[in-house]
Amino acid sequence: MTTKFQVPAIDAQRLQAVLKAMPKAELHMHIEGSLEPEMIFALAQRNGVKLAYDSVEALRKAYAFSDLQSFLDIYYAGASVLLKEQDFYDMTRAYLNRAVEDNVVRAEIFFDPQTHTERGVPMETVINGLYRACVDAEKEQGISSALILCFLRHLSEESALQTLEDALPFRDKFLGVGLDSSEVGHPPEKFARVFARARELYLHLVAHAGEEGPPAYIWSALDVLGVERIDHGVQAVHDPKLMERLAKDHIALTVCPLSNEKLCVFPKLADHNIKQLLDAGLVATVNSDDPAYFGGYMNTNFTRLFAEVPDLTAQDAYQLAFNSIDASFACTEDKQKWTKQLRECFERSAM
Ligand code: ADE
Ligand code: ZN
Repeated sequence: MTTKFQVPAIDAQRLQAVLKAMPKAELHMHIEGSLEPEMIFALAQRNGVKLAYDSVEALRKAYAFSDLQSFLDIYYAGASVLLKEQDFYDMTRAYLNRAVEDNVVRAEIFFDPQTHTERGVPMETVINGLYRACVDAEKEQGISSALILCFLRHLSEESALQTLEDALPFRDKFLGVGLDSSEVGHPPEKFARVFARARELYLHLVAHAGEEGPPAYIWSALDVLGVERIDHGVQAVHDPKLMERLAKDHIALTVCPLSNEKLCVFPKLADHNIKQLLDAGLVATVNSDDPAYFGGYMNTNFTRLFAEVPDLTAQDAYQLAFNSIDASFACTEDKQKWTKQLRECFERSAM
């Protein structure tokens, strides 16, 4: 699909309302990162799990991160309260309810099975809980969603290969695979064989690259793993040839502004390079990553970005929402329907 839509003039105040109202797709969020402290404590109590924090407030206070690893240590501890299928279901319904409030029409949800199977939780418990929530949310609220199984890159490729095999009985319940966790020191090529296997299975392929890691990791995600989208990718600006390649091949970047701020990828949100990515013709999108930890869901990412980063326009807002729908793995018919709704939203705002 191409975008030829000329967005009408909209003043900054009205644009804030449009950012909230416009239909959008979320392509980069980790479901375990949607666990709010209140839910972590409720699930800990329900399952008899002991936490290292005494209260919701104490846990929330610990959310001061210096880099990706300092976040991941707390994120994996939070996920330890998930034991039963109903826990995975409740977490996912809560996220999808919140996404509907932000006019998210499509959510492609990452999950980390190894975080759970390593604690003895069966694969079927994880996938069945997540999947049932997606089905019920579509039936009851009309939100379209799909699951993407992520491999933890700090673990071995053998573990990833075994995880994929263990997930195959549930092949119809997830549409792709991804790669996440500690980036630096774990380049994409470490997972060449598991992505080749996933490709044989006709799974969609994505990977985190260029969040903290160098442009070389984005090249190898593209050329060794053969991914269709790059998760984050903001370090691409340091390599002009890579920028050209990403633009030429329409590779979407699933950018996560509040995450980048919280994990100190940029000194402050105002310094974010999203405008530079858009101006270079890259298919940038806005996403929440781990919304319970990073200070906001989709609409907060959009509204803070447009309030703080200089020079972002209404045309940029349209482009970001359009890109998210276009780069999703939804069917063409749905993408056309949502794109029409997106145009109508901007047209109404000019009246
Ligand atoms: N897992 C959850 N959030 C992540 C992030 N921002 N980067 C890598 N792995 C993650
Ligand atoms: Zn992520």
